[in-house]
Amino acid sequence: MTDKLIIFDTTLRDGEQSPGASMTRDEKLRIARQLERLKVDVIEAGFAASSNGDFEAVQGIANVIKDSTICSLSRANDRDISRAAEALKGANSARIHTFIATSPLHMEKKLRMSPEQVLEQAKQSVRFARNLVGDIEFSAEDGYRSEMDFLCRVVEAVIAEGATTINIPDTVGYAIPELYGNFIKTLRERVPNSDKAIWSVHCHNDLGMAVANSLAGVKIGGARQVECTINGLGERAGNCSLEEVVMAIKTRRDYFDLSMNIDAKQILAASRMVSQTTGFVVQPNKAVVGANAFAHASGIHQDGVLKARDTYEIMRAEDVGWSANKIVLGKLSGRNAFKQRLEDLGVQMESEADINTAFAKFKELADRKSEIFDEDILALVSEEAVGNASEQFAFVSLSQHSETGERPHASVVFTVAGKEVKGDAEGNGPVDASLKAIESHVKSGAEMVLYSVNAISGSTESQGEVTVRLQNSGRVVNGVGSDPDIVVASAKAYLSALNKLQSKSERVAAQG
Ligand code: KIV
Ligand code: ZN
Repeated sequence: MTDKLIIFDTTLRDGEQSPGASMTRDEKLRIARQLERLKVDVIEAGFAASSNGDFEAVQGIANVIKDSTICSLSRANDRDISRAAEALKGANSARIHTFIATSPLHMEKKLRMSPEQVLEQAKQSVRFARNLVGDIEFSAEDGYRSEMDFLCRVVEAVIAEGATTINIPDTVGYAIPELYGNFIKTLRERVPNSDKAIWSVHCHNDLGMAVANSLAGVKIGGARQVECTINGLGERAGNCSLEEVVMAIKTRRDYFDLSMNIDAKQILAASRMVSQTTGFVVQPNKAVVGANAFAHASGIHQDGVLKARDTYEIMRAEDVGWSANKIVLGKLSGRNAFKQRLEDLGVQMESEADINTAFAKFKELADRKSEIFDEDILALVSEEAVGNASEQFAFVSLSQHSETGERPHASVVFTVAGKEVKGDAEGNGPVDASLKAIESHVKSGAEMVLYSVNAISGSTESQGEVTVRLQNSGRVVNGVGSDPDIVVASAKAYLSALNKLQSKSERVAAQG
């Protein structure tokens, strides 16, 4: 019989640890809903003990998501575990994911604990967690660089205490597929009670092998859970990418012979939502979800695909959510058509009032742009700083002047806590002048570490989507803004980043 592979998504926890990728509770809820539509088995919603914001996000997700198991990370101590259990109270199906480092380097230098102390703490924490929730995952952080004998002792002990999933992370992305696969295999063979738990892989992408390592962990090692993130989002070079691992298992079912719950048609919507929310742009040549993933540029390829699709295509674009007809709505479209399109795109609005607000923004956009694409609608609903009165800073209007031979000048009107203010400045270009105009009033002192513009639907007629990454006092945030005018999009992105800088609460680092 075909085994089932569990897809554990950690976009909202490990993905969010990527500098600048932090999300608000509402953004996390929206993504969690999309992950549920994608039918991931487990959603790691956050690290409840790390901050009040994370606690509320895990709690909010646990209360609304019904079909996926909701999981919270926690360090191996009673306080973290109790916080996780409390946040998960409302979940239909809850999991506590507790972890402690087991490699000599991490134990000695980071934890300053002896291996015996780590073993005791691991056992104690699983015992404690097991009394609160039935579904317990234990991770041996930096597991792949741990000593085999010691790791076997830890894993055997935590399974005996009631851990139901054992995860062996390649925390620093050091593994090589064959070696990692064999590492998991050896562990499973040597741990006497290994059949009492599901084995899981969790790979980072520092050497570009996170997906290959995860697949080897499954094929050679016999793991039956893969931990991954949408678009491979994650610290440094990121985590194993969900869309790649899922489509590899599906496309090469002949080789893997595994079943999954995943509804692959929801992959592209999930990818876009995560990219637009975090401002982490998807590279055009990214497998499965990149703009060029199914584009055949060369004449030979086009000819082949027209004659017989499988000459050059191993997957069908529509099977992962790409649709051929991308123009969806225009200026004459009514509220019902708009609402229907939101539903088709998997966007769930909290209330009729929210739909009305989004519809008003849509009408405004349709007045300026005759063709509205799915990407425009997704950008519109994910834009949170713009005109949102509950935010500290909100965009109102902008005027700028630039002419060859003259220094550009901009005036930006925006609100600060609901009160309208105006900033004026000159700059090297109109964008620079606009952001300086905002800064002349706000005086945040933040350093800009990234500025990027992307045409949402390809041409110069499309909306520009701007990402601004700001750094201040060691905190890094991304702001995203979109508008047919890229200077306005830039101002919106800047204000959105300022809002995040204001509201981002301090949190404990998971692996710090
Ligand atoms: O990479 C890692 O080791 C982790 C653990 C906390 C599971 O993310
Ligand atoms: Zn990780």
